[in-house]
Amino acid sequence: MAIIAKPNTPFADPMFTIGVATSSFQIEGDATNRERSIWDTFCEQSGKIQDNSNGLIACDHVNRWQEDIEIIGSLNVDAYRFSVSWPRVMKADGTVNQAGLAFYINMLDALKNKGIKAYVTLYHWDLPQFLEDKGGWLNRETAHAFVKYVNVVTEAFGDRVFSYATLNEPFCSAYLGYEIGVHAPGKVGKEYGKKAIHHLLLAHGLAMPVIRKNAPQAECGIVLNFTPFYPASESVEDRAATQLVHEHFNNWYIQPIIEGKYPALLESLPEAYKPVIEQNDMEIISQPIDFLGVNYYTRAVVKDNGTEDPDQLPPPDGCETTAMGWEVYPQGLTDLLVQLHRDYKLPPVIITENGLASDDVLENGRIDDTQRLRYLQSHMDAVSDAAAQGVKLAGYFVWSLLDNFEWALGYEKRFGIVYVDYKTQKRTPKASAFALQKMLSERKK
Ligand code: NOJ
Repeated sequence: MAIIAKPNTPFADPMFTIGVATSSFQIEGDATNRERSIWDTFCEQSGKIQDNSNGLIACDHVNRWQEDIEIIGSLNVDAYRFSVSWPRVMKADGTVNQAGLAFYINMLDALKNKGIKAYVTLYHWDLPQFLEDKGGWLNRETAHAFVKYVNVVTEAFGDRVFSYATLNEPFCSAYLGYEIGVHAPGKVGKEYGKKAIHHLLLAHGLAMPVIRKNAPQAECGIVLNFTPFYPASESVEDRAATQLVHEHFNNWYIQPIIEGKYPALLESLPEAYKPVIEQNDMEIISQPIDFLGVNYYTRAVVKDNGTEDPDQLPPPDGCETTAMGWEVYPQGLTDLLVQLHRDYKLPPVIITENGLASDDVLENGRIDDTQRLRYLQSHMDAVSDAAAQGVKLAGYFVWSLLDNFEWALGYEKRFGIVYVDYKTQKRTPKASAFALQKMLSERKK
């Protein structure tokens, strides 16, 4: 089975960036040489992580990064997207962990030597615990601490980075972490989510000029996750419920960035849920970005239940699902991109994550992850369909390079195109990795 870069699609265009992605806490390990993050604390609380695991060792990437960069090089990708661990760079006493910085600089140099573009995410959920101790993202000061950290990183990395994303999926940090508590730091309360996201978006906006000053060569943007929502029926109620969920889960994150305002719904929220928006905050948040990163995995079907929290239904009977239980729905990616393009004045869009977890088994040294191959092809086709409808697309990243720590679900969910045996840390490319490699080598010819 192959993955094909179809002619006359973005994937056949050598200017369209194709890469693989990871994040710090999910792969790095080496926890003793950094400060603690909120995820270390969360993992220690019983019942939070499905397999009771943690990120102390993960894929031991800090010690095996050279091998991992070799693998990335062998794939023929144009780019590697990874994140910097804030607690590996900044110490609790406010000084800089030089060894932590050096780790990333060495990796950036190795990528440069191989001609692979570095797409660096500055925050992929691993907030230093010492900042959570002062209120984390509920404290406006955390946005300023982020700017200090970003200044240190971008100054040290110099011209090595092709692209910076400030935040990855701030929805997850704010909603999953501070409203429903299934992610670190595990806070629960409707009064927290919208406050946390305001400070996250402010952190993004405040950091943008700092990155531009220190890395004028880099493209700067943000990575958001979106779920296209579809009504369970054509009833007025289900359609209104779908729109409500779309405002809360999609527009709440993109509208401030692109248009400098939250959805009108903000006004009708109870006072206790509203963020404190200071003068100029929305201008800071909405300064121009060079690209929008879009992470896409699945869709959701919404049914009105008479409350402000409509039901999101389980995948329809008989549809294909992944090991996460998520419906495979490539049309959702086309619909989403076309809708975003219609509703907003967007910069070029990069699909910064797309992929699936599957129950991969290693047999005779091989992993035949055929579902992943099909998924990647159908979603690449969905991206191409959106491009044909006028959406300006600049790249596509597979999540993920390696099997890794899938947050509250631990290590049982395998998203990698490279299999990791956690007992030996041996890496074995899956069939999808070979298919991607072949597609990319043919494209380069
Ligand atoms: C989005 C997140 O950015 C990433 O960390 C996670 O592993 C994938 N989705 C899969 O759930």
